[in-house]
Amino acid sequence: MTPEVASPSEPLLVFKDAALGYGDFIVVRDINLQAYRGQVLAMMGGSGSGKTTLLRGATGQIKAIKGQVTAFGQDIATSSPEELRKIRQRMGVLFQQGALFTDLNVFENVAFPLREHSKISEQQITEAVLDKLDAVGLRAAAHLNISEISGGMARRVALARAIVLEPELILYDEPFAGLDPISLGITAQLIRDLTDRLRCASILITHDVAESFAIADRVFMVGQGRMLASGTPEELSQSDDPYIRQFLKGQPDGPIAFHYPETPAFTKWLNQRGGRS
Ligand SMILES: Nc1ncnc2c1ncn2[C@@H]1O[C@H](COP(=O)(O)OP(=O)(O)O)[C@@H](O)[C@H]1O
Ligand SMILES: [Mg+2]
Repeated sequence: MTPEVASPSEPLLVFKDAALGYGDFIVVRDINLQAYRGQVLAMMGGSGSGKTTLLRGATGQIKAIKGQVTAFGQDIATSSPEELRKIRQRMGVLFQQGALFTDLNVFENVAFPLREHSKISEQQITEAVLDKLDAVGLRAAAHLNISEISGGMARRVALARAIVLEPELILYDEPFAGLDPISLGITAQLIRDLTDRLRCASILITHDVAESFAIADRVFMVGQGRMLASGTPEELSQSDDPYIRQFLKGQPDGPIAFHYPETPAFTKWLNQRGGRS
């Protein structure tokens, strides 16, 4: 239990009528979301719909253009750099391109955040790292170099590294990308188990409907620059909404466009190249 969160029933992360984007380009607007301890939230949507942008809003890499994003009870936009640093220490983030340090072995990659952010003994580091590697099934791979492990194993090492500080909020950006079906199922179950074991909240960005519906408490669907739908997996499965149906069935034809939408920035770029829009 932490002093900043008065009661366990308070959400760890809140988006309130939030708009997020870059400069004056709003990617998503009117976002409302709450993440509580013990919950897995799945965030779905086509590529370019703004899922990673939402995640950047949660970590404070970008500030809300409108509305509010609150982590552990603190408004991200008004937090000082020092406060933001403390907020981030309580978050684990598995980035889409969760690159490992290739000059460090598996063990040292996972140990890295501990060495950076805590002052525990070498013995405690060994215990904590092997415990997290065990959780992802790679305890006996601790001594291997990054060049000696497969892509799927590398994702699991990145996962172990994201959880080694036992964060209260874990953000996973497409953790299933590039995994075979078995590793995918195991990783999904791992995210569920870690959420229950650490009593943290997990936000999972993914395209995988079956796996995320199996483990999520709530599902959020972004598209068209807004939150198209949210609810329990059961509620969304039963929805008649054409967007939701198209997404769940992975159909090419429907209200969700395949083509990346034209923006003023594209038109300007095209005009500068002498093309016509
Ligand atoms: N750093 C950035 N600067 C400007 N625009 C960006 C930046 N990152 C992403 N975008 C734009 O924001 C939109 C949403 O991107 P993103 O959040 O990465 O989508 P998703 O993760 O759902 O695939 C896209 O149109 C993308 O081009
Ligand atoms: Mg993304």
